[in-house]
This record gives sequence, C-alpha cells and structure tokens, in this order.
Amino acid sequence: MVGKVKKKIDYDRAFWKMRSLRYNGLEWANHRFYLDAFVKAGKFKNSDIVLDVGTGTGIVAHAVSPFVKEIIGLDKSQDMLKHSNWYGNMYFLRRDIRNTLFVDGVFDKVTCRLVFHHILNCRQKAMDECYRVLKKGGLMVFSEGVPPTKTVKKDYIKIFRLKEKRVTFMEEDLMDLMKKSGFKEIECEIAYLKKMSVKNWLMNSGLHKSVQEKIFLLHKNAANYFKRDYNMIETAGDCLIDMKMAIVIGKK
Ligand SMILES: C[S@@+](CC[C@H](N)C(=O)[O-])C[C@H]1O[C@@H](n2cnc3c(N)ncnc32)[C@H](O)[C@@H]1O
Repeated sequence: MVGKVKKKIDYDRAFWKMRSLRYNGLEWANHRFYLDAFVKAGKFKNSDIVLDVGTGTGIVAHAVSPFVKEIIGLDKSQDMLKHSNWYGNMYFLRRDIRNTLFVDGVFDKVTCRLVFHHILNCRQKAMDECYRVLKKGGLMVFSEGVPPTKTVKKDYIKIFRLKEKRVTFMEEDLMDLMKKSGFKEIECEIAYLKKMSVKNWLMNSGLHKSVQEKIFLLHKNAANYFKRDYNMIETAGDCLIDMKMAIVIGKK
C-alpha cells in the first residue's frame, strides 16, 4: 500500500515537472478571450481576498490580481509554482486543496481553472474545501474544458487517455459537483476558443513525440462527426479546432 502511494506521488511529481517546462507556451491557457470571460464571471472588487486553487504557473492569478486586494495561488506542485513571478498582491502556497490549512470562511472568492479533471480521488472533498474556505455570500468561479457535444465524448476520452490520467466532465457534472458541496445560484457560461492549434497544444504538452503524433493523427483521421462538432479546419501541417470551456459560477 505504502509502495502504491509513493508510486502515485512520484508519477504526479514527474508529470507536473514535465508539464511545467512548456505550460506557459500553451495558446489556450493564455487565451485573452477565455481569461477575460473568467475574470468577468468573478465580478471582482478591489476589497476581495481570493484563493486561486491549482494556480499552476499563475496565469489566472495574474489575470485576476489587478482587480482584487490580494490573491493566494495554491498548488501542490512546486515545479508549476516555480514558473511564475509572485509579486505585489500575489502570494503562493504549496498545498493540496484536499488538505488546506485555512480556517472557515476567509475568502471572498475562490477561482479554480482546469484543475478538477486532474483530481482522481476525493474530488467532492476538494469541492467541499473550496466551499468551506469561502465567506458566506462569496463566489466560486470554476472552469474546465468539456467535449463540444455528447457525441464526441468517447473520442475525447480516447484522445486524453493518451495524454494523462484524468476525468472527463460535461457541463452538468461540474454544476452537480458544486451543488453537492452546497453552492447555490449555480450558473454555467460557455466560452468557445475558436481555431485553436492542435499542434501548439501538443508541442507544449510535454508529451513524448510519438504520443504527440498519435494524438495528432486521431484528429486528422477523425470521423466526419468529430470534425463537424469540433468545427475542425485542416491547414498545412495542423488542425484547428474550437475548444469548449465551461465557466461555472456558484454562491455560498
Ligand atoms: C492544468 S494546470 C492549471 C493551472 C492554472 N489553474 C491555469 O488555469 O492555467 C492544473 C494544476 O492543478 C494542480 N493540481 C492538481 N491537483 C491538485 C490538488 N489536489 N491540489 C492543488 N493543486 C492541484 C496541478 O499541480 C497543476 O498545477
């Protein structure tokens, strides 16, 4: 049992160390329209104290920081945290969201983008923790990429299985996760990131070249319904797809 847990920790460390090297080069992670939609959903005030869960290299924390008093980026990976500049009103903390040190109700807002699909165990506990640390009346802004339609969900799972151990959500799963932790007034907005390069995604994924090639071919040789639902455009050497990002907002 101890050996199994150690193996998982080693796998996790190695995975994020590898991903941290090129994470900031990802087109979709830095997409202005997506970041602006996320920030708008948070209705931030300059008195807000914010917790950014799974902050990674701090892309969301950087986007939110001009609008708030203080933001703490929490992440379990030292390697990801290392790839950001933490200054001014931005602080970071290396910690797992399932085991934080905060007392109840300290934050005005909790933000969390592209993290929960990596939480394979005790996912509800992670969401409960986001709820617990929020003040009453506080908002959580929660975002994940989702398959563009239910039809391509199985293809999406097949592609991402080559990339990482993860969970695939539809919008309703995200809303349900929040509801079960006690959030109210839950709303979901969709941000489509148009014409995103599959090559850029793969080049900055940290994946081995052979896996990159496999994933690329799964796009290029995909069935017509997949190309239609992703609004896919084939260019010389690349495939451009519309990525669907769900932004879910809930109130404590
Ligand atoms: C895909 S990155 C997203 C980074 C950032 N939120 C963004 O949108 O650019 C996922 C991050 O979640 C972190 N993470 C995953 N599980 C976590 C957990 N249980 N507690 C804290 N951080 C976690 C990883 O270490 C990684 O930095």
